[in-house]
Amino acid sequence: MKMFLLLLFLCSLTRSSTSKNATRDHLPRGSALSVEAHDSRVIVSADNSFTCGFYGFQTNAYWFAIWLTNSKDRTIVWAANRNTPVNGRGSKLMFSRKGAMVLTDVGGTIVWETNTTPTDADRAVLLNTGNLVLKNQKDEIIWQSFDHPTDTLLPSQTLTKTKSLISVLRKGSLESGYFGLGFNSINVLTLIYDGPEISSVYWPSPDPGFNVFAFGRTSYNSSRIAAFNDLGVFNSSDGLNFTAIDMGLGIRRKLTLDSDGNLRLYSLNESSGLWSISWQAISQPCNIHGICGRNGICIHGDKPECSCPPGYELSDPADLTQGCKPTFNMTCSGNSTRFEFFPLSYTDYYGFDLHFKAPISFDACRDICLADCSCQAFSYRLSGEGVCFAKSALFNGYHYPQILGTIYFKVPASIKPSESARILTGSNTTCTNVTSILGSPSMYRSTGTKLHWVYAYSFAIAIGVVEALVILLGCWLFFGKNQLLANLEDGYRVMSGQFRGFSYEEPVKATQNFKVEIGRGGSGVVYKGVLEDERVVAVKRLGDVSEGGELWTEVSTIGNMNHMHVVRMWGFCSQKQSKLLVYEYVENLSLDKRLFSSNFLQWKERFQVAIGIAKGLAYLHHEWLEWVIHCDVKPENILLDGVFQPKIADFGLAKLSGQNSKVTRMRGTRGYMAPEWAHNLPITAKVDVYSYGVVVLEIVKGVRLSNASTQGPEEEEEEEESELMRFVKVTKKIITKEDESWIEEVIDPRLGELFSRKQAAKLIEIGLSCVEEDRNKRPTMDSVVQVLIDCESE
Ligand SMILES: *[C@@H]1O[C@H](CO)[C@@H](O)[C@H](O)[C@H]1NC(C)=O
Ligand SMILES: *[C@@H]1O[C@H](CO)[C@@H](O)[C@H](O)[C@H]1NC(C)=O
Ligand SMILES: *[C@@H]1O[C@H](CO)[C@@H](O)[C@H](O)[C@H]1NC(C)=O
Ligand SMILES: *[C@@H]1O[C@H](CO)[C@@H](O)[C@H](O)[C@H]1NC(C)=O
Ligand SMILES: *[C@@H]1O[C@H](CO)[C@@H](O)[C@H](O)[C@H]1NC(C)=O
Ligand SMILES: *[C@@H]1O[C@H](CO)[C@@H](O)[C@H](O)[C@H]1NC(C)=O
Ligand SMILES: *[C@@H]1O[C@H](CO)[C@@H](O)[C@H](O)[C@H]1NC(C)=O
Ligand SMILES: *[C@@H]1O[C@H](CO)[C@@H](O)[C@H](O)[C@H]1NC(C)=O
Ligand SMILES: *[C@@H]1O[C@H](CO)[C@@H](O)[C@H](O)[C@H]1NC(C)=O
Repeated sequence: MKMFLLLLFLCSLTRSSTSKNATRDHLPRGSALSVEAHDSRVIVSADNSFTCGFYGFQTNAYWFAIWLTNSKDRTIVWAANRNTPVNGRGSKLMFSRKGAMVLTDVGGTIVWETNTTPTDADRAVLLNTGNLVLKNQKDEIIWQSFDHPTDTLLPSQTLTKTKSLISVLRKGSLESGYFGLGFNSINVLTLIYDGPEISSVYWPSPDPGFNVFAFGRTSYNSSRIAAFNDLGVFNSSDGLNFTAIDMGLGIRRKLTLDSDGNLRLYSLNESSGLWSISWQAISQPCNIHGICGRNGICIHGDKPECSCPPGYELSDPADLTQGCKPTFNMTCSGNSTRFEFFPLSYTDYYGFDLHFKAPISFDACRDICLADCSCQAFSYRLSGEGVCFAKSALFNGYHYPQILGTIYFKVPASIKPSESARILTGSNTTCTNVTSILGSPSMYRSTGTKLHWVYAYSFAIAIGVVEALVILLGCWLFFGKNQLLANLEDGYRVMSGQFRGFSYEEPVKATQNFKVEIGRGGSGVVYKGVLEDERVVAVKRLGDVSEGGELWTEVSTIGNMNHMHVVRMWGFCSQKQSKLLVYEYVENLSLDKRLFSSNFLQWKERFQVAIGIAKGLAYLHHEWLEWVIHCDVKPENILLDGVFQPKIADFGLAKLSGQNSKVTRMRGTRGYMAPEWAHNLPITAKVDVYSYGVVVLEIVKGVRLSNASTQGPEEEEEEEESELMRFVKVTKKIITKEDESWIEEVIDPRLGELFSRKQAAKLIEIGLSCVEEDRNKRPTMDSVVQVLIDCESE
């Protein structure tokens, strides 16, 4: 019994002493932390916010590090010699009798030590700021971890001439990566990619159009010091100041140069232990250099993606930063290798310009690249005059729809690039083979003086078509219509998957020589037909052939789109004067016939139609590769299938918003056209939002508010405008939140009581916000979809 009590006493004694040890905030000289002793391997700051000790990451890799005690993932803010982890057994951190801190691995090898011997160092203390310091007996700091930052800066820690942040190589590792933040030789705080092959500054933007000094920064102050304080205000001697969006005291923050190369200020939510971003240096990730490696192309999007150009493949599919390697040997001995150029529009690479020439013709630019063995590609853009950049190396490639100009890759004629082009997603190592998402199937030979189109339209997955046609279109405008059209007619035959070119006879036979007319649009007459494989199709015969542009717009825009609320195009054919487009057949009539006639839709269908159109437009605006603006949304162009699901049709007037071409003539239909058309403002997706608003209001009201027959005379225009305006004005006046009786005055009286008030009110609200004069006040289609889905079930 006594023995037992003694044991109990001993146990409680040990427990209390270990718990005491676990929260100690300093390490006296001559003591050690051991990797195995679980309770004694840490030092905790007095306020418990930071912990310092052995941090196990992977199975048997440990670092001597400092982390935030309360963050969910134990966020590391500092580590000793982070490139060399130590063993989970036998490793020690000793505060030696000599006065230095020494980290040793299992065999006793020194992995890291403070250069503080001989000193009068007395103890190591972890301060509440997260700073691990060695102090002497006079309480002076003789060494501090704040002087040796890793990838993170904490409040009151300074960046100076000799201190910089270096990112970690990848998430889940502490190894140093290639991104750095520090002062450059002209005193400006910069972000730099310092990779194995190249180094380049990417922030502040190296874009020649961007002047650092215009943003209040200066290179004249040589003190080179930067820090942020507890309020979340960052100041740098070069004039860079920024503040956290949640500026104020009492929030724990850290500034980290992340593994993706972006510099972010984070705020910790102490209760959830999660970080939120309260500032970041770079809003467009493709502006960060080095992320897609040599030859790789960063594709703009919510998440950046890396892709390889035609003729190239990933060097290491598990690591996108390794870039792409050519699938050919670039030799140019004599005349033995013939080259072809593969164009990729909206794409450019930063730097490594072998030659720069302007003004210059396209052919001359191509010849420069051909003549120079080291030229890998050239970038050509027509901005008034031709501008030519021949590239000796391809780094920092990026693809946005806003980029002017096209890059042409020099590839031996023997290569069939479509086999190797790939695209993959972000840091995810699973890759999908999407052939030529960028890689155009069209190419021309560099031999011969005339452009000669080669028809290698064999796509594995078909998204390339849009791009191809954009390129074709561009060249068509550039080199003259007829030649290209002729070539297209001969050659544009096989397209991928379902989408293909038809022989002229096929649709003629299918429609029994255009027997059954089912519709008539601005761009042509539509006939019903049945293909040999028994698919029912709608064949559109385009009237005016000189208006070839509309055919190409339509083909290029919706060929291969695949969305439930967008009419599917099966193919097309083009022969001399006749251009035919072959679509899926949509059973029911267009929306106007089911709205403004006695054969009208009930509420459930109307709401379903409103949601469906919104989803289709959201797809066009936000999801589809080229961000298409339809430009002619109206009930006539909304087709209804057997169960009254809407499908958006008639892309004859659509605009690829990435295209830089100015819209020269008004497109669309009076009454549905946004005011910016008249005001000559740039056309954005918000014009479709406006038209959608008119359509939605018409769906609710059941009458034509635009009241515009397509060929309405000019004088009626003002009256038409005012009809919608009047409706908007009246409705805005009677609309109230509390009482819903106003809805009766607005809604289609033919519905009687059979409708949902909540949904009707929501549709009206959306319709009104969509037809705002000021396009910035109009919602995006994405948000409309969200709102409608939320009240779908009511
Ligand atoms: C806890 O600390 C005391 C002195 O403060 C020390 O004697 C003891 O060995 C420590 N315990 C462990 C498990 O490290
Ligand atoms: C940052 O602050 C300094 C001093 O307050 C000021 O001179 C400078 O213009 C500021 N820089 C910017 C970019 O606002
Ligand atoms: C930071 O800059 C602001 C002005 O932008 C200035 O008021 C403040 O005193 C500066 N703080 C430090 C620590 O330099
Ligand atoms: C340079 O920057 C430092 C730190 O921001 C500031 O204290 C100093 O006044 C600046 N010097 C000049 C000449 O502007
Ligand atoms: C912090 O997280 C908790 C729990 O997730 C949440 O309720 C709270 O709103 C968050 N606080 C802030 C400021 O975001
Ligand atoms: C490139 O050249 C090397 C050596 O000269 C050869 O082994 C390799 O097969 C060549 N690759 C191609 C794709 O021709
Ligand atoms: C290269 O081709 C050109 C024209 O085809 C010819 O004049 C020249 O002699 C050729 N050079 C070699 C090294 O074959
Ligand atoms: C990659 O993406 C797939 C599907 O999106 C997901 O299931 C997987 O967990 C991801 N893998 C990594 C390593 O992120
Ligand atoms: C991509 O294509 C290559 C060659 O066509 C094939 O070997 C590979 O398995 C494909 N990868 C995926 C993820 O489909």
